[in-house]
Amino acid sequence: MSGEEWEAADHVGHYCERADEFPRRAEGEGVLLEHVPRDARRVLDLGTGDGRLLALLRRERPAMVGVGLDFSELMLAAARERLAGDERMALVDHDLAEPLPELGRFDAVVSSVAIHHLEHERKRSLYGEIFDLLQPGGIFANFEHVASPTRRLHLAFFAAINEPLECEDPSDRLLDVESQLAWLRELGFDDVDCYWKWLEMALLVAVKPA
Ligand SMILES: C[S@@+](CC[C@H](N)C(=O)[O-])C[C@H]1O[C@@H](n2cnc3c(N)ncnc32)[C@H](O)[C@@H]1O
Repeated sequence: MSGEEWEAADHVGHYCERADEFPRRAEGEGVLLEHVPRDARRVLDLGTGDGRLLALLRRERPAMVGVGLDFSELMLAAARERLAGDERMALVDHDLAEPLPELGRFDAVVSSVAIHHLEHERKRSLYGEIFDLLQPGGIFANFEHVASPTRRLHLAFFAAINEPLECEDPSDRLLDVESQLAWLRELGFDDVDCYWKWLEMALLVAVKPA
């Protein structure tokens, strides 16, 4: 199975410990939070990890019902802890390499540094599934690790986040912004753009026509 590192306690621990201090992360997440409507009722978080995005989103969306999906037992346990006692939040154990399970319709689908672990072909088919499960007017916001156009910029990114290149996730399948925006447009999304970017971190947003 690809993505085995997410079943290793040291890998998960290292990621979770560093999540808050990751350079410019709060800035990109802030733009995502601005674009998810305050009245979004149902929100799906793909590769939710420890429930970080759901926890941020629910702060200003008291009526929001959240579904977090991930395939890592360790991450799901951390999410259960973070979201403990909040009956509006549900967690689903699912491998995103497989078609999404039946989850109903959503006003927003979000994701944070998760979809880049999938093979490119699966990224594209997942984007199509996201289109189908969004309500008309619903938004897809993907805060993502994307490919650099050159090796030099890839090295510059790892230097900027102060991680040795050996710490790259073995399951990373980085893809450039342009290809992903083109797919989203081809699938019928509207208002498709990169709303924020810093080196290899980007926020891709797409809206299903109302
Ligand atoms: C870098 S972490 C991000 C976690 C969280 N979204 C955040 O922003 O902190 C990547 C997450 O994607 C999950 N993931 C990777 N591949 C996956 C797959 N094929 N199916 C489901 N989850 C996956 C991992 O288990 C992990 O929780």
